[in-house]
Amino acid sequence: MCGIVGYVGKQKAASIILEGLKRLEYRGYDSAGVCVLQDGQLEVAKKIGRVENLTKEAAKHRFTGTTGIGHTRWATHGGVTDANAHPHVSSDGKIALIHNGVIENYGQMKTFLTGKGYTFKSETDTEVLCNLIAYHYAKESPGAGGSRFLESVRKTLTHVEGTYGIAVLCVDCPGEIVAARKASPLILGVGEGEYILASDASALISRTQNVVYLKDGELVHVTPTAFFISTLDQADVSPVVDKITWSIQDAELGTYSHFMEKEIFEQPVALENSMRGRFSEDGSTAQFGGLNLTAAELRQIDRFLFCACGTAWHACLVAEHLIERFARIPVEVDYASEFRYRNTPLHSNTLFLVISQSGETIDTLAALREAKRKGYKALAINNVVGSTLAREADGGIYQHVGPEIGVASTKAFTSQLMVAAMIALYVARMRDMSFSDGVQYVNALKGAPDLVRKALLQAPHIRAIAKRYAGYSDMLFLGRLSLFPLALEGALKLKEISYIHAEGYPAAEMKHGPIALISEKCPSVFFAPNGEIFPKIVSSMQEIKARKGPIIAIITEGAELPPGLADEVITIPECHEAVLPIVSSIPVQLLSYYIAVERGCDVDKPRNLAKSVTVE
Ligand code: G6P
Repeated sequence: MCGIVGYVGKQKAASIILEGLKRLEYRGYDSAGVCVLQDGQLEVAKKIGRVENLTKEAAKHRFTGTTGIGHTRWATHGGVTDANAHPHVSSDGKIALIHNGVIENYGQMKTFLTGKGYTFKSETDTEVLCNLIAYHYAKESPGAGGSRFLESVRKTLTHVEGTYGIAVLCVDCPGEIVAARKASPLILGVGEGEYILASDASALISRTQNVVYLKDGELVHVTPTAFFISTLDQADVSPVVDKITWSIQDAELGTYSHFMEKEIFEQPVALENSMRGRFSEDGSTAQFGGLNLTAAELRQIDRFLFCACGTAWHACLVAEHLIERFARIPVEVDYASEFRYRNTPLHSNTLFLVISQSGETIDTLAALREAKRKGYKALAINNVVGSTLAREADGGIYQHVGPEIGVASTKAFTSQLMVAAMIALYVARMRDMSFSDGVQYVNALKGAPDLVRKALLQAPHIRAIAKRYAGYSDMLFLGRLSLFPLALEGALKLKEISYIHAEGYPAAEMKHGPIALISEKCPSVFFAPNGEIFPKIVSSMQEIKARKGPIIAIITEGAELPPGLADEVITIPECHEAVLPIVSSIPVQLLSYYIAVERGCDVDKPRNLAKSVTVE
């Protein structure tokens, strides 16, 4: 949420910052801005709308400086206007600031600063922070140059309540940026004779793979030749330089029209990457390197509690089904945003797990911290290496699916389902699952990428269906057991990218409310895999059909529907129960994607949404 880029080096900063902003646009896209320090001035261009608009606006300026900052905004305080876009410059013209997060006590600060003669052009909390830095800068004794700049930022931040990732320029300090973070991600790229700051690696990967992940409460002072990290209470920090393992190609569209499309089709390989090296030599169970729990500790676990937000929460619901079904251990799932305030009673043998693609979702982080505060081991399933979540969790499992850029999660979701299936196997094999059932389960998981490849072959058929259904305004998604979460996910995918109202429900529960919505104007998407419960699902379909509701049925090979019952049929391969949710994801992802494309929606950047939600 909100993207930050900063540059200090020998190149013209503006073009590097604009390129970085383009790559960060999925974090927020209601407005964007850039500020370059040149000719003793802070030159600013900002514009509402996409980075494209900013690029046109920036072309009207003569940006030549080699130090600068830029921002893509997802509005929190103040509407979407040019004035509210970042960077903000202090009213004395000394300080420029970009900010990701929320300053809670900005009201008091604004009153204080107004009393001191500072003025404001925007309605944002960020401009208040900017002026407060300028106030402290003016008060700091001159002489110490850059350190006066650093200390003014440090002093300001000690008065701040809230969250922030910031990058600051000072008109008197060419070649310098001070940046800091608390609950909003910030990475420093260490390039050849240059430094790039960014909210995530995709903005700097084209210039360097060497990065330093800043921690909460740390500040970095970047100068033309070096960088220094310290804490809010002035302790020096020795930096650890990590290497990003993916490359610029992973963050580019290639021949695809949208990142969502690319990421849907990347799923077979993504699943292979999530499984790599994670099965025991005898092929009967899973193994994980980073759980930081002994087998004895794991055997004592008698309850799981999963927390997450959005699509990752749906992955938790699938985990619940698989762990209870195969390992017979009770699982509870909570929204991270609810858990943090609900004061849920936890039992000593509960294992707390969070799932998050980005590892930066503020509510998920808060849930993890709350569980840790209560003394529980808290593990994370997470995609982004080096994320705040990965660093704060007691242990965990990386998904290894590379960058996911489309706002609507696809490959990260199926990879989370794969990890959940592996966890279910791992704990089941520590209990009652036999060796041969384990081998069968492992082989099923290993076969999942090919089954997904097969399901993806349905794309042209699903595209044709999408053309026929793109004009509806309401849709229901219905599924049972492990596919009830898929009904929720199908509905979420459709509503978030095509703006069609959609609801997910357990198929049989449909009689208790949603059936009132059924008419020829409200189609239902049914998950109807072969199996014990198939006849029950067929009955639910009959009830919809009797009320003239159009039906799209997703069946597994070999399932036979009564003739004429479904208006559209999508067939996916028959598969093991642990793999079924993964393979069933493909048709609903493709259906939502093609419907959104048909409706002319901006698939990768749906309105009002952001990829990584770093505010409460
Ligand atoms: C946002 C994204 C969703 C994502 C959710 C949780 O709402 O748009 O796609 O599922 O955040 O994100 P996380 O990074 O924690 O998985």
